Amino acid sequence: MAELAIIGGTGLTTLKNLEIRKREVMRTPYGEPSGPLVHGRLCDKDVVFLPRHGHGHTIPPHMVNFRANIWALKETGVDRVIAVAAVGGIEPGLKPPMLAIPDQIIDYTWSRKHTYFESNLSQVTHIDFTHPYSESLRRLLIDAAEKLGIAFVDHGTYGATQGPRLETAAEIDRLERDGCTMVGMTGMPEAALARELALDYACCAVVANRAAGRGEDDGEISLEAIDANLSQGMETVRHLLETAIPALDSLTNDCNSL
Ligand code: HPA
Repeated sequence: MAELAIIGGTGLTTLKNLEIRKREVMRTPYGEPSGPLVHGRLCDKDVVFLPRHGHGHTIPPHMVNFRANIWALKETGVDRVIAVAAVGGIEPGLKPPMLAIPDQIIDYTWSRKHTYFESNLSQVTHIDFTHPYSESLRRLLIDAAEKLGIAFVDHGTYGATQGPRLETAAEIDRLERDGCTMVGMTGMPEAALARELALDYACCAVVANRAAGRGEDDGEISLEAIDANLSQGMETVRHLLETAIPALDSLTNDCNSL
């Protein structure tokens, strides 16, 4: 059974050093995941990889079948998920291609299938989501980042927007007033669905750009620059994962104690 699932975001559709053992096509009660689960060995551990936007990067953020993805990972037997996601930096210190390990979320998405608890319920079900990310998985990532000496931020509030368009400058002003320090399109409902299935879940955010209105050039966002920043940032993510994974043995699960 795999010890860890990694969900790859934009710019991370493969894990270079993953020794692939098999590809598993999964069907779930919620439809098909973004693609076959890729099982393999990374740093002597069994790992399962799923690119959120599909293996050919064709599924836009608002069309990702988050329920099927998280269900498939649970079904395959993992209890921990590290989700890699591109973000725009709102807080002044968050510049590309830095990494950030957020500790909070504000959800601005709409009309996404965001829960497993909607029908055939014996009673209405709620989950605690005060701390949306697993603290032990966050710590694993933070320790690895410190060990590598890379530029990163160990906290932050992830504002999840609907996409696929980027935000207006006024929307980013609003997110900043709300307390968001970074903005991305895929952090929700993924994190909440993972909690509903009692999976430990943490996000490794890669700053692809300064958020709208926050950068140079009148604050407009260059899509070419995003691509360049992401390929640099994702290389750092690969190193981070390969530093973090060997330390998995020493980890306790947060969700198992819920
Ligand atoms: N906004 C939303 N999502 C993003 C951004 C952004 O600026 N950059 C990368 N993903």
